[in-house]
Amino acid sequence: MTEEELYTVYKGVYLIKKIHNQESLKYYEEFSFRPDDILIVTYPKSGTVWMQEIVPLILSQGDPVVVDTVPNWDGVPWLESRAFIYNLDQRPSPRVFVTHFQYNMMSTGFVKVKPRVCYTDWRTRDVFTSYSHFSRMASFLVIPGTQTEFLNKFLDGKAIFGSWFDHVKGWLSATEQHIMYISYEEMILDLEASVTRMAQFLNTPLDSEMIRKITDRCVFKNMKKNKMSNYSLMPSTMMDQNVSEFLRKGIAGDWKNHLTAAEQMQDVKYTFVWDYF
Ligand code: A3P
Repeated sequence: MTEEELYTVYKGVYLIKKIHNQESLKYYEEFSFRPDDILIVTYPKSGTVWMQEIVPLILSQGDPVVVDTVPNWDGVPWLESRAFIYNLDQRPSPRVFVTHFQYNMMSTGFVKVKPRVCYTDWRTRDVFTSYSHFSRMASFLVIPGTQTEFLNKFLDGKAIFGSWFDHVKGWLSATEQHIMYISYEEMILDLEASVTRMAQFLNTPLDSEMIRKITDRCVFKNMKKNKMSNYSLMPSTMMDQNVSEFLRKGIAGDWKNHLTAAEQMQDVKYTFVWDYF
């Protein structure tokens, strides 16, 4: 199906018609944040489910009951899509949510209350690679076409939630104290140190045994087995894991297996942001 058939435009970016409807977006716009809410923010395919596993485990001080029994989309609801179906007013603090919205799409309630934000980013090339695979297995996304076609769309921001560049630039420019930044690479390099840093930001003291326990649960090979996090509970008509698994490779640098030669990029009219890193 085409962009016109599957997507809607909201604040200048593509969202998914089936998932982001008027009711859910209105609910988001009017949502009452609490100062101690925790909002996980990511561009798609940047380690969202990983954060949806780590943050609840930090808050429960390593007790796995919630992440083992509640699907991540119920435990850490998407503010712009499913949040309106839960009675979130009744949830005890600190509540945890997730969003893919860009900084300039955040509601006035968010700007006023300044809930705590964990922003996770991942380098463009790996996001693009993961996104290409995801677009083939998720029936609510436009089939990516050739690599060059999808790359052009991706770089033009013609993918859901818009441009990676706008997303990362917007959130990284915010630099407010209620926002913590962490990168996927940092988590891959040293998950234990990353969990420690997140726990400090979330004001949840954890001893070294708890940190070790959380880290062990959240390494790729272990998290991949968790039905509450690996999207195996999602009907295959929505996500066909025979085409590509949701928790697919879980490594940094897989782009090298997909974007190898410079000539593959020659038609692209942008300078890549990684050229400056
Ligand atoms: P790959 O497709 O490269 O494997 P999101 O949750 O934002 O959609 O991001 C999905 C990406 O994060 C996938 O990348 C997935 O494998 C990776 N990921 C999820 N959990 C992970 C973990 N525990 N360790 C490493 N990578 C993880």
